Amino acid sequence: MAAFTELVFSGVQPTGNLHLGNYLGAVKRFVEMQDRDAQCLYCVVDLHAITVWQDPEALRGQIREVTAAFLAAGIDPKRSIVFNQSQVPQHAELAWVFNCVARLGWLNRMTQFKEKAGKDRENASIGLYDYPVLMAADILAYRATHVPVGEDQKQHLELTRDIAQKFNTDFAGSIAAHGHGDAFFPITEPLIGGPAARVMSLRDGTKKMSKSDPSDNSRINLTDDADAIAQKIRRAKTDPEPLPSEVAGLKERPEADNLVGIYAALAGITREEVLRDFGGAQFSAFKPALADLAVTSLAPIAGEMRRLTADPGHIDAVLADGSARAETIAAQTLDAVKDIVGFVRRGPSLQAVR
Ligand code: TYM
Repeated sequence: MAAFTELVFSGVQPTGNLHLGNYLGAVKRFVEMQDRDAQCLYCVVDLHAITVWQDPEALRGQIREVTAAFLAAGIDPKRSIVFNQSQVPQHAELAWVFNCVARLGWLNRMTQFKEKAGKDRENASIGLYDYPVLMAADILAYRATHVPVGEDQKQHLELTRDIAQKFNTDFAGSIAAHGHGDAFFPITEPLIGGPAARVMSLRDGTKKMSKSDPSDNSRINLTDDADAIAQKIRRAKTDPEPLPSEVAGLKERPEADNLVGIYAALAGITREEVLRDFGGAQFSAFKPALADLAVTSLAPIAGEMRRLTADPGHIDAVLADGSARAETIAAQTLDAVKDIVGFVRRGPSLQAVR
């Protein structure tokens, strides 16, 4: 197998308020990945956002808000590449090539499409159906080797691996002939893990915390102030038992498990360590401790987001700089893909004429 340099890619949709699940499952881990000796690219995936209707003015604001959240959480736009997808045309271009590699049967198995399209599938956009192929293009335009995401993205990343594998196999001869060895695309490693890979709703421990839940009390938004955060945790659903002293005791107690997982992820410790301190405690004691921790961790991010969104010119400059740097990498991949697939490129064909 060809050797690939470690490269980290991940994306977040600008489709409304970012919540604690997005932060703990993804953005907080993006920040941690910066300390690895790898190039990191973090993308605001606006092409994905329009797979369902977005009001144009609101969308522009949301793109800037997600960018502000990245920066406020600690992503350094000098060390990492921060950009929005629509400024780098190679994402859509590679998605087309992958549309011709991916099989209908693969996409028909995607559970997120089924959930999002609901009963009225005939009326869903083609883009919503094709969403996972564009996601594969996002990742593979940079030949990314590692993708930190929450657990809900696992199936999409498996599809990305299938597409890479099929491309490498279908075009094996051409890949070798163009000097890329035995594989052009890496088989990307999903990085899913930690105590908050799947943060659940505060109102129902069996449902994922999500932007689309009609109840605002089900989630903590990154823009919530200290009072709102504390109140939502106070009101979070629990059971009447005290916390167990062993992790095994959280089984069959989804709400307790969720709050312990949130505490662990915010504190950067394990569930076991949380239960070492709080095993035997009632929720009346645990919830205030969790609220304090959540407020100290999240309030500074909300404050910094407010400061950053007040200066859209600065955010737009960060995105323009990141997009230019991203495009330099993606353009090289697309040139190689065009050669491998058998397209005639402007560069070599002009040279041939001369
Ligand atoms: P999006 O915007 O829905 O979610 C962004 C990230 O947040 C994670 N996440 C959660 N993690 C834990 N608990 C939750 N309740 C929770 N809810 C959301 C998601 O897993 C995700 O990591 N398809 C992607 C965006 C995307 C992408 C990509 C990601 C587009 N292209 C390429 C990685 C690589 C998405 O749905 O993001």
